[in-house]
Amino acid sequence: MINQGKFIWWKHGVIYHIYPLSFYDSNGDGKGDIPGIIQKLDYIAELGVDAIWISPVYLSPMMDFGYDVSNYREIDPVFGTLEDFKNLLSAAHSKGIKVIMDMIMNHTSHLHPWFIESRSSKLNNPKRNWYIWENADKGLKPNNWKSALGGSAWEYDTLTRQYYLHTFLKEQPDLNWRNSHMRKAFFDDIEFWLKMGVDGFRFDAINMIVKDNHLRNNPPFFGFFHYKKTWATRNQPVSYAIVRMLRKLLNKYENIVSIGEIYTLPPGSPAISASYLGNGTDSLHLTFDFSLIFCWWNAQRYYKCIRDWYKHIPVKGWPSIVMSNHDLSRSINRFGTGLHKKEKAKVAAALMLTLKGTPFIYYGEEIGMFNSKIGKSQIKDPVGKKFWPFYRGRDKARTPMQWNTQKNAGFTEGSPWLPVHPDFIENNVESQKENPGSIFNVYKTLIKLHKEHKPLHAGEWKPILRGKDGVLAYSRTWEHEKIIVILNFTSGNKNIKIKISTQWKVLFSTHKPKGEPLNLRDFVLLPFEAILLER
Ligand code: GLC
Repeated sequence: MINQGKFIWWKHGVIYHIYPLSFYDSNGDGKGDIPGIIQKLDYIAELGVDAIWISPVYLSPMMDFGYDVSNYREIDPVFGTLEDFKNLLSAAHSKGIKVIMDMIMNHTSHLHPWFIESRSSKLNNPKRNWYIWENADKGLKPNNWKSALGGSAWEYDTLTRQYYLHTFLKEQPDLNWRNSHMRKAFFDDIEFWLKMGVDGFRFDAINMIVKDNHLRNNPPFFGFFHYKKTWATRNQPVSYAIVRMLRKLLNKYENIVSIGEIYTLPPGSPAISASYLGNGTDSLHLTFDFSLIFCWWNAQRYYKCIRDWYKHIPVKGWPSIVMSNHDLSRSINRFGTGLHKKEKAKVAAALMLTLKGTPFIYYGEEIGMFNSKIGKSQIKDPVGKKFWPFYRGRDKARTPMQWNTQKNAGFTEGSPWLPVHPDFIENNVESQKENPGSIFNVYKTLIKLHKEHKPLHAGEWKPILRGKDGVLAYSRTWEHEKIIVILNFTSGNKNIKIKISTQWKVLFSTHKPKGEPLNLRDFVLLPFEAILLER
């Protein structure tokens, strides 16, 4: 038994991921902000999610749009003030919505006072070792480590004639987590937010925070996805030890969640993602496995990814389910070629919200927002600027939320920081709310069912049809309650014959009316139909 039937928000609830720059702009500067999120809390409550995770809002020079923090206790003026953040916390809490912050532990901004001090001198500098500095002649890097965003991970600093490590941009120097003073200072910053009442953190690139102490080379690898073979810069034993320390810190507060971004892509590595759950109680509460993102609309592949992910979850642990985020293509763009993308988005919603695990919905996914085409002159993402035209960066999945048919999709009165997707006239929250069969209403209904039915939020998962022929079916069982989920990934009718004889009726279907009786031994599943059955 998983628990005594109690609803644990981070296990049994649904989490909504907000990229704050693009959610809602309250002051007309073209950039989303915290007061904007507050104004949209009714929308979030209507969708029915239990928590929001907001990408970073700390003080930042925005070289990586907030993932480069120069002060972990301040809010960047682009987003508002500390007061605004406190207001968000209390407004969200008053609606029963939890607030999860993003916490970036691998690196700070180069403008963080710690780095400024660390950089200032080599000797007698108490903060020198808070970052990773290494000797090498100029031009000869200390080793072959690569930045995840391209190029060498080492930057030469002329002032002290050493290299510093940056796993991401050179404006994001890596912290040295082997240094206990730095650790203490960082944990204090985390506690600052816990004391204020935040409900948890998504820990950015947490499996990368510690590197090989001897700075040994990674295996030689040419090409973009070098991080497939990066034993020296990922998953070091000390990372696991730090995660356990982190858990102890979080355990001082009640009902906190920690979520690890375990970057192992592509195509995901469930064993490694799950390893950060430790024994299920001593490490992170949840970790992301990105395998589902790379299933490219193939039911059999989805089945295999799900099976493998569950296989690695420790007995006391719990999986998360994620199909989109701010770093990758929007999910709907990955659902194969051709027509039917919107139908597929509904099947995907049913998959996410009926699997065992905490679903994470990326803002806009609930209305089937598409990637945008970003012209060269419009690119904001430094990675896109660097690799254009081979890789155009991550902006395409970060464009403004499409609220309505008004100017800029109702996102801003000003000029939006990234272009609004031109399809907003048909594709927006307001229009979808009015259409009972819209993607939005499918999400809303399924989130409600997920909350109301124990099998869906807490039950065990058992496969019935494993994706052959494009159909996936499974059951979710909680004590004596059972729900069967059947998903048609194809554009054809499917004759379903499942040897389960009880009488079933439709709890939800994208095509059939609720309550309709159904004989599992022989029925027709319509093209792209998602169906949930109860006894
Ligand atoms: C994570 C974030 C990404 C960021 C990187 C560096 O992967 O999701 O947006 O660029 O870490 O912080």
